[in-house]
Amino acid sequence: MKKVDVILGLQWGDEGKGKIVDALAPDYDIIARFQGGPNAGHTLEFDGHKYVLHTIPSGIFHSHITNVIGNGVLIDAHIFMKEIAMIRANGYEPSKNLKLSQKAHLILPTHRMMDVALEQFKGKEKIGSTLKGIGPTYTDKTARHGLRLGDSLEADFKTRYEALKATHIRQFEGLNFDWKTYKIENLSLDEYEQKWFSALEEIKKFDIISSEYFINQALNEGKNVLAEGAQGTLLDIDFGSYPFVTSSNTTTAGVCTGLGVAPNKIGNVYGVFKAYCTRVGSGPFPTELHDEIGEKLRKNGNEFGSTTGRARRCGWLDLPALNYAIMINGVTNLIVTKIDVLNDFPTIEVAETYVVNGQKTAEFPSINLDNIKTNLMSFKGWNHSLANAKNYEDLPKRAKSYLDFIEKNTNTAISIVSTGPNRLETIYKSKNLCCE
Ligand code: GDP
Ligand code: IMO
Ligand code: MG
Repeated sequence: MKKVDVILGLQWGDEGKGKIVDALAPDYDIIARFQGGPNAGHTLEFDGHKYVLHTIPSGIFHSHITNVIGNGVLIDAHIFMKEIAMIRANGYEPSKNLKLSQKAHLILPTHRMMDVALEQFKGKEKIGSTLKGIGPTYTDKTARHGLRLGDSLEADFKTRYEALKATHIRQFEGLNFDWKTYKIENLSLDEYEQKWFSALEEIKKFDIISSEYFINQALNEGKNVLAEGAQGTLLDIDFGSYPFVTSSNTTTAGVCTGLGVAPNKIGNVYGVFKAYCTRVGSGPFPTELHDEIGEKLRKNGNEFGSTTGRARRCGWLDLPALNYAIMINGVTNLIVTKIDVLNDFPTIEVAETYVVNGQKTAEFPSINLDNIKTNLMSFKGWNHSLANAKNYEDLPKRAKSYLDFIEKNTNTAISIVSTGPNRLETIYKSKNLCCE
């Protein structure tokens, strides 16, 4: 029986997961998202086009691959149908190769408003949420009164919707939030609701399935399945830099609960990380650079959010955090992206260890992440374009030393080196990655 391979982020999101899923997609029959929702922005570039996907898996542009939105994912009907429209406008028909779980929870218009209200309420302590309603929807899921996509097919859906909306409106009053004048995407609640309900009717034309049976049957039939993560390990609700995290398990464990796949059916775990670090939103960031070097990383890497357009905070690679993420996820293969961003840096630094309360440590602390100091190691840059590097051997010697150092200090092999945003700018260091 086949196992599910996993691609997920090892940092604070935006590691280049979408690009890597797209590059590896031809080896797979099924690509399945297991958590998160429209807070994600996964960028794919090929054949002169750039696409940003939010809820839809990154295999959608391969018509022979089935894409699955698993039970762990959240769906905003309006955002989802806008994404479908973008895909259709580019000449693809996603209803042919996309299936959605009956159990995926719905982000209601009032969940989006609630996100705004809660962030306002937090003031200076705000999470820096993408404001897509993620936190409030997962909250309702665990509070056991959320609404699932499958529920929308039932006769009592509208009644249940109105009851949940009324609960939200009562909560706004407690938060002192003027929901009557608030706009979502420039629309009043009534206007957004109208669009949301008509989008929901459109979604009903898609294949809404019991995705746990679909995926397990596919594995039994010997099909190759790839699970696509959103966000990153350091945004995980349990293991991330809490409370500055998202509201789902972004780690390998999330594949089991978000797709209905047993732990003994997890295969290769590909951990994607940038050759440096970025973070968007609030929260601790031990290697953050507040100077012109950070600015240069932002400029070279075009570090602006794919979902919100916000400038991403930038800093050096952080080995204690990377090793922690490798441990939590059981990473079998590393994939490094954006190494080209470092091409013209005379010196490249890496946090090798931390100092916490005066003590040197290689561990990522559980609590009090604000008090971390870093011990940095320096490398000479390679000062060379990577545009002509097609094989690992073609990389400049100093770039290879940097990668060797990472492999040695993580005890994990780097299997892919990404040297640009395009599908073709991908160097495979190990062959036959898929489905071992
Ligand atoms: P994701 O959320 O993990 O899929 O990542 P995003 O799409 O939000 O952000 C990654 C950004 O880096 C996108 O603009 C990609 O097109 C781009 N990108 C991905 N890999 C590379 C790479 O190796 N080099 C460069 N320069 N850009 C890359
Ligand atoms: P992808 O899949 C980067 C961040 C937000 C905020 C925190 C909580 O593209 O890597 P939320 O909207 O979930 O309530 O926000 O998490 N965040 C991301 N940062 N990439 C993402 O997704 C993110 N999704 C959420 O900026 O700090
Ligand atoms: Mg992203």
